Amino acid sequence: MPPRTIIEPFRIHSVEPLRMTSEAERREAVIGAGYNLFSLRSEAVLIDLLTDSGTGAMSSEQWAGIQRGDEAYAGSPSWYRFEAAVKTLFPMPHVIPTHQGRAAEKILMTAIGGPGRVVPNNTHFDTTRANVEATGAEAVDLVIPEALDPALEHPFKGNMDLARLDAFLAERARDVPAVFVTITNNSGGGQPVSLENIRGVRKLCDAHGVPLFLDACRFAENAWFIREREPGQGARDVADIVRDIAALADGMTMSAKKDGLANIGGWLAVRDDELAARCRNLLILTEGFPTYGGLAGRDLDAIAQGLQEVVEHDYLRYRVRSTGYLGDGLRQAGIPVMRPVGGHAVYIDARALLPHVPPLEYPGQALAVALFVAGGIRSCEIGTVMFGRHPDGSERPAALDLVRLAVPRRTYTQSHIDYVIEICAEVASRAGDLRGYRIVAEPPALRHFTARFEPLAS
Ligand code: F0G
Repeated sequence: MPPRTIIEPFRIHSVEPLRMTSEAERREAVIGAGYNLFSLRSEAVLIDLLTDSGTGAMSSEQWAGIQRGDEAYAGSPSWYRFEAAVKTLFPMPHVIPTHQGRAAEKILMTAIGGPGRVVPNNTHFDTTRANVEATGAEAVDLVIPEALDPALEHPFKGNMDLARLDAFLAERARDVPAVFVTITNNSGGGQPVSLENIRGVRKLCDAHGVPLFLDACRFAENAWFIREREPGQGARDVADIVRDIAALADGMTMSAKKDGLANIGGWLAVRDDELAARCRNLLILTEGFPTYGGLAGRDLDAIAQGLQEVVEHDYLRYRVRSTGYLGDGLRQAGIPVMRPVGGHAVYIDARALLPHVPPLEYPGQALAVALFVAGGIRSCEIGTVMFGRHPDGSERPAALDLVRLAVPRRTYTQSHIDYVIEICAEVASRAGDLRGYRIVAEPPALRHFTARFEPLAS
């Protein structure tokens, strides 16, 4: 029998001190931030679960890569190491480096989007949607209906609804420049997509003559779930599963801030020569020369090394289990969380935990602020604050009011996570006392980043 305890497959080489704060200090900080956790100085945060993007710890080999980085403007060895590492997993002829995922989205959508076009996806991440819509095109989400029920167990809750995709393509294929599959499905709770489902999408794309693209930010976590959950995949090497996924796609966008294990970076990869030429011309306008994109040579080296480490089984076993451990702990404390727990984050169902706070009084915001004041934990509201305001000026409750606890890679230890569980349980035990908020100032769009709030009187 293998040992039951799954340990962090690394030891600590360099430490970053956390500054302990008192509840009074945190209360003062959050008042100064207008009760918006994005407006906090991060030194005031004890455990920062705002995002898993660019917040992970690099390995000693990645730091060695930073030193090895060669800053030649064109044709640097760092670029060739980066390109080779990408092609080892995603053997596509054209790899175009960008400073992060949304830059790859912007370039691709500028090349293939436009008015009258429509892009189906299991679920668009918000920057992907914004980049589709910024060109005048339409973004359509066709995830399976099971994904919309937070309590329902399903091994591949990120799957595309193939019947709806087929019907959609039968009607609109001529307007579809690409079908996207987001692995894992972040907006749906970090849920994986099965290999069988991606094969099904490929078949439909072939039948209707449209290309298939991956939004591959968390490809390694997705491949690990395939290995764990999909019949016949359990004995396979994750890197081979990734290559199988890559073989099904005509192109991809990627944020190396997630499964690149780096603090910055991304890329766009395509098979089509003519599309690649157009994208490289756009790259030169906004990112840089095609052998560095928006990155320094040292960043390219950090990503090249990160791509080798991210598909290691010991790493992925620890990674997925440590997120699951947080979800299990919260669930045992009676806190409603989205099931099953995804790869990079645990989502608390704030509407279920705070049924006395109506959606337009922002239960997710109330919970997120309470977690910060109680224990210095920074989370992210994903609900009516984020999605409730519409371009016509109206405000409506979002489909769900969630609070995301995103786990940075290789950054926090099990005792940090035990502390998070303890604080969440303490806040949940007095959930009935939490009050809602009202917004006192908000910008015309993307209000969650800068809105200011006031607590409602009890
Ligand atoms: N696609 C997905 C599925 C993402 O989760 C993200 C970023 C992006 C694209 C954009 O990548 O940030 O490098 O420009 N998600 C982060 C998050 C910001 O917190 O979930 P980027």
